Amino acid sequence: NWTMSAYRQKMIEKIRAQVGRGKVICGLSGGVDSSVAAVLIHEAIGDQLTCIYVDHGLMRLNESEQVVTMFRDQFNIPLVHVDASKQFLGELEGQSDPETKRKIIGRLFIEVFEEEAKKLGGAQFLAQGTLYPDVIESVSFTGGPSVTIKSHHNVGGLPERMNMQLVEPLRELFKDEVRVLGRELGIPDSFIGRHPFPGPGLAIRCPGGITPEKLDILRQADAIYLDEIRKSGQYDKIWQAFAVLLPVQTVGVMGDGRTYEFVCALRAVTSVDGMTADFYQFDMNFLGKTATRIINEVRGINRVVYDVTSKPPGTIEWE
Ligand code: XMP
Repeated sequence: NWTMSAYRQKMIEKIRAQVGRGKVICGLSGGVDSSVAAVLIHEAIGDQLTCIYVDHGLMRLNESEQVVTMFRDQFNIPLVHVDASKQFLGELEGQSDPETKRKIIGRLFIEVFEEEAKKLGGAQFLAQGTLYPDVIESVSFTGGPSVTIKSHHNVGGLPERMNMQLVEPLRELFKDEVRVLGRELGIPDSFIGRHPFPGPGLAIRCPGGITPEKLDILRQADAIYLDEIRKSGQYDKIWQAFAVLLPVQTVGVMGDGRTYEFVCALRAVTSVDGMTADFYQFDMNFLGKTATRIINEVRGINRVVYDVTSKPPGTIEWE
């Protein structure tokens, strides 16, 4: 794509001009945006960039390992992997309000990040994978009061507090353009084509209180669901697909025994930018097969339902 290769060159020049000989740190989230930003900045200024991956313990099955391996081994980008899962899960214990959970995660994320940045001896620049829709969504609606539907936890407030300047090379791009740029930079398709994943991770896919046991159940169900989606060739037709572990137990029967376990909801939507979305029309046989696999393979779930709500009026996530 010639347009994107020109954009890449333009941004590399711009990053070099902005940063000079300065040091940049970048918070990796495991998502496509921060990854593309990091690889682009690394291409521009090499090891003047250090990435910090704050692992909150709310990632999907094997996800953290995959992220760390890719950046360290494939791209040779200096990367600090901070396992802060105990701290996050500890502070989230007993919290069931969606916005409270987001606030705790956002605050801890900043605290851990700041501490690690200090250990690195400080840096003048903070890199972020902010996209154009993030820029416009944080501006209040025309003619009305500013309404927060969900507080997104990008590291707002951090640059001022740490006296850092922002490097945001993706600010002019939409999601699909970021993917084109990522491919252009040599990031594998399997990574670039990944669905968006929210900063607070599985915490907002476990409505109500979070426990390590629930997260473990959710991880297994989610992995089976995505495995079936990939195998059936539907992954790329979907904007986001994920499992939600409901805080509801229902009665079931397995063998000659009664069970009383959690309900798992499956969600899949199509969308262009995440602002509006339609529920994805799976074939019923696909859903039946996936439900059977989840119930047979995951201890703790005995019922699976499919979410047929579009956005609006629903949101993509359940919290
Ligand atoms: P909703 O649920 O608001 O989601 O329809 C729209 C898009 O945003 C993602 N999302 C988040 N991303 N922090 C994030 O970084 C959050 O707190 C958050 N909440 C929702 C969601 O996955 C979807 O792509």
